[in-house]
Amino acid sequence: MREEAIVKELLKLKKEENYRTLKLNERKGINFSSNDYLGLNEDKELRVEFFEKFQGVDLLFSSSSSRLLTGSYPIIMNLEKELEIIYNKKALLFNSGYDANTCLIETLFSKNSLIISDRYNHSSIYSGIKASEAKLLRYRHLDYTQLENFLKKYSSEYEDILVVSETVYSMDGDRADIKKIVELKKKYKFKLLIDEAHSFGVSGYGECYETGVLDAIDYLVIPLGKAGASIGAYVLTDELSKEYLINKGKKFIYTTALPPINVAWNFFILKKMQEFESRRENLVKLSIYTKKLLSEYRIQTISTTNIISVVVGENRKVNIISENLREKGYLVYPIKEPTVPKGTARLRISLTAYHSKEIIYKFVKELKNEIDSIL
Ligand SMILES: Cc1ncc(COP(=O)(O)O)c(C=O)c1O
Repeated sequence: MREEAIVKELLKLKKEENYRTLKLNERKGINFSSNDYLGLNEDKELRVEFFEKFQGVDLLFSSSSSRLLTGSYPIIMNLEKELEIIYNKKALLFNSGYDANTCLIETLFSKNSLIISDRYNHSSIYSGIKASEAKLLRYRHLDYTQLENFLKKYSSEYEDILVVSETVYSMDGDRADIKKIVELKKKYKFKLLIDEAHSFGVSGYGECYETGVLDAIDYLVIPLGKAGASIGAYVLTDELSKEYLINKGKKFIYTTALPPINVAWNFFILKKMQEFESRRENLVKLSIYTKKLLSEYRIQTISTTNIISVVVGENRKVNIISENLREKGYLVYPIKEPTVPKGTARLRISLTAYHSKEIIYKFVKELKNEIDSIL
């Protein structure tokens, strides 16, 4: 890109109040933008327990090479073995959810494939689709009638069809009906990729595991940067796909593997996952409480989860509300296009298990004041 074109594009973003800057995370104020849904990352005692448990283990800060060059550290192999027992599928660890989605799709699908994707799927999914050169059809968000119409129309034309959905959509805080998509597999032949970024942890081992539909999921992607309190992503799939990804997946082959210290932490959290039930219950209670409160104040949301979006509309207005709330000690960042459609800029309130009803009550009151003063 030429320099003038870059400057012009940046100016345009500024004019549209959509210019991004890097702000310091001062860890001050009450954070309503964190994806640490279960509060595991903020839990100091959990960290102490981790270091006690792994005493004597060489917790290296780098793995210093790709797994295919110098081999895999035992902790990675053990983690994948554990995942294979839990999910009854083959497991492969990726360095991020972005890499996992992109690599899976670009490696396993091609220009002869058809990929049918929920319109609101994450950017990493669309990067993979673009790189695969597959034909893309986007169905309206959560519109399974349109998904079925696509399947009906194209099933005879394509031998290789992939349907992609997330479980929980983080910009609206609503939920896909995975069982409904799985039902369609009885009528039409397609592969299914499900991304559990915002449900792993919040629903234990994930929604597909908890609702008993794992057998129907061909590629389960579990990014760990949210309730997983870590980094990296699990891919759960069949033996052949795993073998192919190891041999052909560029984002698996040509990258340094996750450091053993992070992998050990992932292993530790996975082993303890069933112990976090009270946090999950608390999160559900807080979510119900918050939505009731918002409804009393006539603030609308379509959320059905712990992620609560309040659509404001204009970028300028959402920026002002967010800034004013920050001054009052509440961190809730605005979400704007291209992350969400133009004209639907919003505040994305992310509840975590360490919030309390008292804090939420004070916050919602301030939010109401801000909304009233600007809309
Ligand atoms: C649905 C979804 N998938 C994938 C990712 C990417 O995961 P990671 O942050 O591990 O790259 C995200 C993160 O923002 C996400 O929300």
